[in-house]
Amino acid sequence: MTSGNLLTDTPELYELRFPDPDHRAARWAESVLNRYGAGLAVLDLGCGTGRDAQWLHRHAGRDVTGLDSSPAMLRHARTYHPGPDYRPGDMRDFDLGRRFDAALCLDSALLHCHTNQDLDDFLTCCRRHLAPGGLLIAEMRNGAFFLGRTELLDAPRTDAVTRHGTTHTSHTTLWIDHGAQLLRRTRIWRSDDGSPPTEQHSAWRLLFPQELRYLLAAHGFEVLALYDRPGPRTEPAWTQGAAPAASTHSDRLHLVARLTDTTEKSGP
Ligand SMILES: C[S@@+](CC[C@H](N)C(=O)[O-])C[C@H]1O[C@@H](n2cnc3c(N)ncnc32)[C@H](O)[C@@H]1O
Repeated sequence: MTSGNLLTDTPELYELRFPDPDHRAARWAESVLNRYGAGLAVLDLGCGTGRDAQWLHRHAGRDVTGLDSSPAMLRHARTYHPGPDYRPGDMRDFDLGRRFDAALCLDSALLHCHTNQDLDDFLTCCRRHLAPGGLLIAEMRNGAFFLGRTELLDAPRTDAVTRHGTTHTSHTTLWIDHGAQLLRRTRIWRSDDGSPPTEQHSAWRLLFPQELRYLLAAHGFEVLALYDRPGPRTEPAWTQGAAPAASTHSDRLHLVARLTDTTEKSGP
């Protein structure tokens, strides 16, 4: 089974295209876990290649479980980033039969929850898997960035990545589906090995800070921090000890929320 997304289906290519040689994403997550006093048990939702999960397991001594819906990503994680317990699953509907001290959802994985129902289901699953006082830590695109800004939408973008001597060139167009609050992407891949071009479609929910606060409160979470920078994917990037800004207008959003009300909820 494939996801119809070349980078998700070819995790080596994902790591080449989005390198993180200093493990900045995992180190940022660890700094947040530390800062808010999280216990050792961590669930990485949409763990992808497993590189963050493994770093947290190996270098921070955490008990990490990674969950992802992509069989290719899970295969890659178990082979190249062993250590954590990797599980197949949908972040909107899973039951691991245990609780964690924190749930991570990095690099916009949360934005694969497209509808309000998806978001409710995701938060319901998080609540069921977090110990009282557990943390939800997410890092993602910021929907509010697109209010009054079109620079990411105006011009198609071309990138290239080479693996095993073959160069894969992507031509990416982004646009906004306003009614659905989705950032939609069409990406055409061309490879210099003679294979025919492929066109792929992806979408991310555009979540706004106030909307996120409302959803989290409705699911029993208290927002401890919500800010745009610095983070592992901001420019300039986060460095150890860097303080969060008091703003939410740049292109990334960083969320830290604590589960304070564990009573069962059926949604807002
Ligand atoms: C952009 S990648 C991020 C991977 C990783 N968190 C990172 O920061 O490198 C998004 C990941 O979410 C996974 N994903 C997408 N929808 C999902 C869902 N409904 N349940 C679980 N995983 C999902 C994809 O397979 C992919 O590995």
